Amino acid sequence: MQRFTGRTALITGAGSGIGQATVLRFLSEGATVIAADIVPKGLETTRQMAEKAGTAARLTTCEVDISSESSVQQQIGGAIKKAGGLHVLVNGAGILRSSHTHLTSLEFWNRILAVNLTGTFLVTREALPALLESGNGVVVNFSSTSATFAHPYMAAYAATKGGIQSFTHTIASEYAKQGLRAVAVAPGSIESGMTNDPGIPADADMSLFSKMSPAIGQGFASPDSVAGVIAMFASDDGKFITGTELRIDGGTHM
Ligand SMILES: NC(=O)c1ccc[n+]([C@@H]2O[C@H](COP(=O)([O-])OP(=O)(O)OC[C@H]3O[C@@H](n4cnc5c(N)ncnc54)[C@H](O)[C@@H]3O)[C@@H](O)[C@H]2O)c1
Repeated sequence: MQRFTGRTALITGAGSGIGQATVLRFLSEGATVIAADIVPKGLETTRQMAEKAGTAARLTTCEVDISSESSVQQQIGGAIKKAGGLHVLVNGAGILRSSHTHLTSLEFWNRILAVNLTGTFLVTREALPALLESGNGVVVNFSSTSATFAHPYMAAYAATKGGIQSFTHTIASEYAKQGLRAVAVAPGSIESGMTNDPGIPADADMSLFSKMSPAIGQGFASPDSVAGVIAMFASDDGKFITGTELRIDGGTHM
């Protein structure tokens, strides 16, 4: 399938996990991809994987901190300008930190909001003019099963993912008449940098994690389980889907 020939996608969180798998998937389907992340080493790994797949000629990388307004304006703004336009934005970058809510500092809370929620807003705001210019732009945001199902010790993270869901619905409505679609994926139980080290407090009550095992497969799934769904959403196969989200968790939260 070559569903993205002639289309440019900006993918954040592109140096690891689901973002990285999405970069490789979009490249394999003919897209020109701007891969953005805060960790240069991760971006280098993504480039090496694209080289192995023979698709690196359509890849550019962009080092950015999505929680910083000036970094987003300079790095993301510059990369879109250089690419000469944008058709798809995948807001994959995010962080997961866990703590007892009554012990959570304001600094900890604000950092999670700054990356996940404000970062999604900043990158979307920067990309919107080019996405609207394209006439059929698509934004794919990252919610989580944490947004609607109780995951203890993750109050700040869950709040950002609920916020991202609401943000997605709002922009879907606001820009629908200009041809923009906005959808969210709500993954769960996916192998990634984040789930390898969720930072659960040492004294956590593990009996509270009643719903962590997928009903299908052999444990956590690989990130390409989500990348394929994102590609469907962002392609013409998803042309009648907007203002909604899809849970991708192997039935963990049925
Ligand atoms: N893995 C899961 O089961 C799961 C479940 C629900 C939601 N998600 C969401 O999926 C998305 C991708 O995460 P993942 O699971 O692949 O984890 P990951 O940790 O492997 O990837 C996240 C990437 O975001 C980057 N990043 C972090 N802060 C950044 C910043 N300030 N600026 C730019 N880049 C930054 C990291 O460097 C990393 O490459 C996240 O939004 C996450 O919340 C994942």
